[in-house]
Parts: sequence; structure tokens; C-alpha cells
Amino acid sequence: MTRKLLYLPVLVLAVAGCNCESARKSALTAHEKEIDSIMAEMTLEEKVAMLHGKHMFSSAGVKRLGIADIEYADGPFGIREELEPDSWTPLHMETDSATFFPTGSALAATWSPELAREYGKGMAIEARLRGKDMILGPAINIQRIPTGGRTYEYLSEDPYLSGLLAVGYTLGAQENGAAVCLKHYALNNQETARGIVDVKVSERAMREIYLTPFEMAVKQADAWGVMAAYNKVEGKWCSENSVLLNDILRGEWGFKGMVISDWGGTHSTGAVEAGLNVEMPGGAFLGDSLLVAVKDGRVSEEAVDERVREILRVRMTVKPVPEEMANKTMTSQPNAQKIAYDVALRSVVLLKNSGLLPLDLQKYGKIAVIGDNAVCPQATGGFGAGVKALYEINPLRGLMSRIYDKAEVEYVPGYRRYGPMDRFMRKSPVCDPDPEMLAEAVRLAEASDLVIFFAGENREIETESSDRKSMTLPLGQDEILRAVSEVNPNVVTVVVVGAPVDLRNVEKLSSAVVVSWYNGSEGGNALADILTGKVSPSGKLPFTIPEKLEDSPAFSLGVFPRYDEAPYSEGIFVGYRWYDKKNLPVMYPFGHGLSYSSFEYSDISVRSSGKGIKLSFQIQNTGDMAAEEVAQVYVERPESMQEMSVRELKGFERISLAPGESRKVEMFIDRESLRVWDSVHSCWTVEPGRVNIGIGSSSRDIRLNATTTIK
Ligand code: GLC
Repeated sequence: MTRKLLYLPVLVLAVAGCNCESARKSALTAHEKEIDSIMAEMTLEEKVAMLHGKHMFSSAGVKRLGIADIEYADGPFGIREELEPDSWTPLHMETDSATFFPTGSALAATWSPELAREYGKGMAIEARLRGKDMILGPAINIQRIPTGGRTYEYLSEDPYLSGLLAVGYTLGAQENGAAVCLKHYALNNQETARGIVDVKVSERAMREIYLTPFEMAVKQADAWGVMAAYNKVEGKWCSENSVLLNDILRGEWGFKGMVISDWGGTHSTGAVEAGLNVEMPGGAFLGDSLLVAVKDGRVSEEAVDERVREILRVRMTVKPVPEEMANKTMTSQPNAQKIAYDVALRSVVLLKNSGLLPLDLQKYGKIAVIGDNAVCPQATGGFGAGVKALYEINPLRGLMSRIYDKAEVEYVPGYRRYGPMDRFMRKSPVCDPDPEMLAEAVRLAEASDLVIFFAGENREIETESSDRKSMTLPLGQDEILRAVSEVNPNVVTVVVVGAPVDLRNVEKLSSAVVVSWYNGSEGGNALADILTGKVSPSGKLPFTIPEKLEDSPAFSLGVFPRYDEAPYSEGIFVGYRWYDKKNLPVMYPFGHGLSYSSFEYSDISVRSSGKGIKLSFQIQNTGDMAAEEVAQVYVERPESMQEMSVRELKGFERISLAPGESRKVEMFIDRESLRVWDSVHSCWTVEPGRVNIGIGSSSRDIRLNATTTIK
């Protein structure tokens, strides 16, 4: 169990006042003496040259002193192909095809910090083969807007789940030789007007919700890089927000690494004193202008020295890859591909199952596969980082590889693909079905025993730089499903998405519903192994799927979209915190995910001590199939002096059980993880009093309850 403690919120803070000591000594401080002597030899010009991009994805070292440039690799779900040094144009190399890992919300659906650690390892292995020093990921902003363009890339609506996965990813990457770059710090929760929007947020919401994932990855995993976001927070650009960069990140959390701007996200030479180390990709502000500013005393050389020291700490810790070693072998490696499969397999979420899954190929020998999302590639698309994947097993290919000799499978697209030109022309993806394609789908459904309907979005619809306008399924999918289900009642719907979509019709018209994400190079194989029953599904939703977009907090309060000031009026009530507080029905709750087996929870016991709450419970696999369950621990503070969420996730454990097997699970909730931000005194506090513990299979499927008190 000690291994698990690594991931529990061991926020070892001296909570007296606000002087929170960082939780661990950073590996980056092992070279201070060496750095002293390097810096003593550096000229001001050489120092300033380090503080901005040398090329599109590199920043300068000091060749004269044998300090290598820093090479960056766009992530966060695969090592981006090699581009021309000073443009976005690919070099079309032979060896830069990488493993496409499941995207953020898919990784989060595994609820496994251990798999996140493997994920970070896989990313680092491939980054190093490409000669890269820092992965531009993980992307860990909170999914505030269900239709957020980068919800697919981010992890969760919950800070604790996001934080533990970020810890895992960071540990895995950095222990395998590549620095991470936590992004986008901070409060980059919308793509609409992302380069100008000014977020207005309560200190409590900022601390408890939006900063916590970054804090956990810095304190518990010693993250070495952070990327400043494009937006403003309380009137200050993130790339020059001294409160975020100096006071909180460095002063309170003990961050010893380097902060780079997002591409084109720097706004002044003053950013150096505010805590920015590197302006990417160019030197508009931290190039010659900075040199002049230092020489005429507008920017202190001491600030320049601090920023250079922080960069050198990372440079001395991440060993440079010799030029002759980089790009010499294919980026995508079998060990990383296996990790991609393992993550994809445990990410698939079974939302509903009236018995059609796993597929009974004796009974249903003629299978219709309907929907372009059965074949649509998801590794690239939209704006921003994608992966030139060595391969991508799509769902149809995965399925055929498993059942080609056991069933008769026929495929029709059902709807056309929303493509780059549609996005470029700003066409809405929400449109009526194509009559001929609809008719073809109905004909095939009528002639088949069972239909697997592939619904959902794609990477042209869910993309960086724009937010979706609605949760409605695109391309007439609801109508197609209705027509198909009228001629064949045996429908399994697979939803290929990265973010919430409106599933009200899908739920009514399908006997089974599965979410299979943008699930990486091995996604089709993983999905096929779930649908055919080789493995029981075990994914859990990392976000709530509301009945309708208007029920979600920012839409319900009318504070999104906003183009200049974005008031986070919902405060801490993001995601399930909101729906619970408002007692709203949801389509599928945070943490929901079914299995082919069933689990019985019993014998809860809780005991509080000065350090926290020890709890244990029994869980049994009462079905006839081996399966994994993610048991979740939610905490309620009914006596709190502050306005609180109804319940908050404070622990979870993925448990693998053979049929009939029962196990006692022991967990520990660190007292500090019950902290609340005291906005009056501007510091963390842990309130003594009653703590109600709920343990269950989702945030709205609590199986065991107990109460204790903490002092
Ligand atoms: C983008 C993204 C950031 C990415 C960077 C480099 O605008 O916001 O996540 O790493 O530019 O491509």
C-alpha cells in the first residue's frame, strides 16, 4: 500500500499561515556550484540569448562553454514530427513517425496514476530518440467548459484526479530522461479569445480548483518545466504574472525549473522580472530589446541571472542527446505502443449495457458497422499539435482483426466526414444527414443481426483555438441512429469523442453505449478487445456528461462565451460540484463506468488520526468474469464554515479481481488534502469537525457511508 501513498495528496505543508514549504527537494538544485562557474564566464549577450527561442522548437545554450541548446517536443499525446527549424513546415523525415498515445481525457478515464507514469515513460523514450529535452505536456487545465476545444487534450473536471495523473505523467517522463512542461499555467480553460481573455476568478476557486493540478505535479513530482498560458489572470498576462510565477509557483511551491511562454504569448521585456525564463518561439521582447533594457537599467541583470540559472538547472539535469544519436531510429517503439494499448484498454467507458455486450457472435453473426468514426483517423486534425503516427488501428480494423473469421461484418460510413475545409470555412458540424448515406445505412441495418453505430466528433471538430458551439452530435448522427434503430433494435453505439456530447437520443435508442475516446495508435485493438469480451471495460468518466449544455455552470450563469473578461462566477462549483450543488440530473455522472462483472462493497471502517483518515472496506467481484473496478472516495464537510461542494473526490483505487474474489482495500486520506482556501486570511486551512466519507463506483453511486471527525 505504500506505493499508493505516492499518489495520495501528500501535500506536506507547514500550514501555519501561508508559508507553505514545498514538499520535496528538487533534483534541479544538484548543480548550483557548476552553474555558478558557468555563469561567471557568460557574457550578458550569451545570457540574453538563452531567454528566447533560437528556432521554432529550441532555445539557445552557450556553444562556447559546451552548453547545448534545449530541444522541445510538442506533446502531449505523441512526439510531434520534425519541422523545418524556423517554420511549421514538416521535414517529412523517414524516422519521425511516433506512437499516438490516447489523448488527455482518455488517459484520465483510466483513473490510474500508475498508467499515467507508464504514459510519461513512453513519451520520454520516444522524445529522447528524437533528441528532445522537454516534452510540451502534460496539458492539465481543468475542463471548465464541456464544449471546450481542448477538453479532449486536458484530463478532468476534477483537480485531484487531474493532479494525480499529472504527478504520474511527470514522474514517468522525468525518470526516463525528459523534462515535462506543465501547461497551460494558468486558467486557460477556453479557446474562445484565448489570446486576450482576462480571467476574473476568486482566489479560493483559483487555488482549490485551477492551480491544484500544477501544485501537485510540482510538489509531488518535481516538474522541471511550466508553460505560461496565453490569457490574463486578474489583469496580468500569465507570461508576466509575478503572482503566479514568482509568488505562488516559485515562492510557495518551491519550483526550481524554467517557465516558457506559449508560442507568441510574451508581451514585454518586464516578463523576465515577473518570472518568465524563455520567450517562444522568437525574441521580440526577450531578444535585443531585453539587452537594451538591461543596459539602460530598465531590467535588472540580477533578474536575468536568476532566469539563466533556472534554465541551466534544467539543462544540467536533462542530458543533451548527441546530434549523431538523434533521429537515427524510428520514433515509435514497441514498448511505447504496448503502453498506448494498456492505457486505451483501461480508458474505454461502458455507459449503458442492456445485455448486448460483450458481443455474442453465435447469436448475432451478421454485424453492420455504421459511421465514419469507425475509420476516421484521430491522430491529427484541427489546429495545433497532432501526431504523425507510425500507425493508427481504427475501430473497424481492430474489430475485423478479432472477428473476421467469426462473423460477417459489413461497413457503411452513414455520414460524411467533417474535414479541414469545413473547419476553415467555419461550417457548423451540426447538420442534417445525407439522404443517400442515410438510406444506405438503413438498408444495411435492416439486413443485419446487430448494428454497431459509431457516433461522436473528430479532431477537426474538437480542436485547439476554438470551442464547440453545442453538444449536439454532428452530421445528423441522431437522425441516422433513430432511423437505424427503427429497423433493427439491436444497436450498440460507440461514441468516439474527447469531451461531453448530448447523449439523450443515443441513450434512448441504443441497447449499449460505450465511450472509446481519441484512443491512440492501439485504440481500435483495445476497443475490439472490450466489445468481444476479451477484457471487461473498466474506464470511468473523468468529467460529467450533462443532459444539456445549458445545465453546465458557465452556460447556466451566462458567463460563457466571453471575449474580454471571463468571470468565473461559478467559483469552486465546476463539473460535478455544480450539478450536485444544484441537485441537477445528469446524463452520466463524474466517475461513472460499468463493467461486464459486478462488485459488492462492504465493511467500511474509518479512523481519523492527527495526520488524516485511515479507511478500509471490502470489495468483491460478484460476477463470473475477471474485472477491474475503480473505487472512489468522496468527502463531505457538513459543518464547514465555508460554502462547500456536496462532495469532493479525495481518493480512488483501481482494483483487479478474479471472479468471486474479495479483497480488503486500505486507503489513507491525508489531513492536508482536506484543506480549504481561507479567502479572509489568504491561506490554506484545515477545518476540524465532522467528515462524511462516501465510497462508491461513481460520484452518484455511493455504496458505503461512514462518518468521523478530525481535530
Ligand atoms: C500552441 C499551444 C501549446 C503548444 C504550442 C507549440 O499554441 O497552446 O500547447 O505546445 O503552441 O505548438
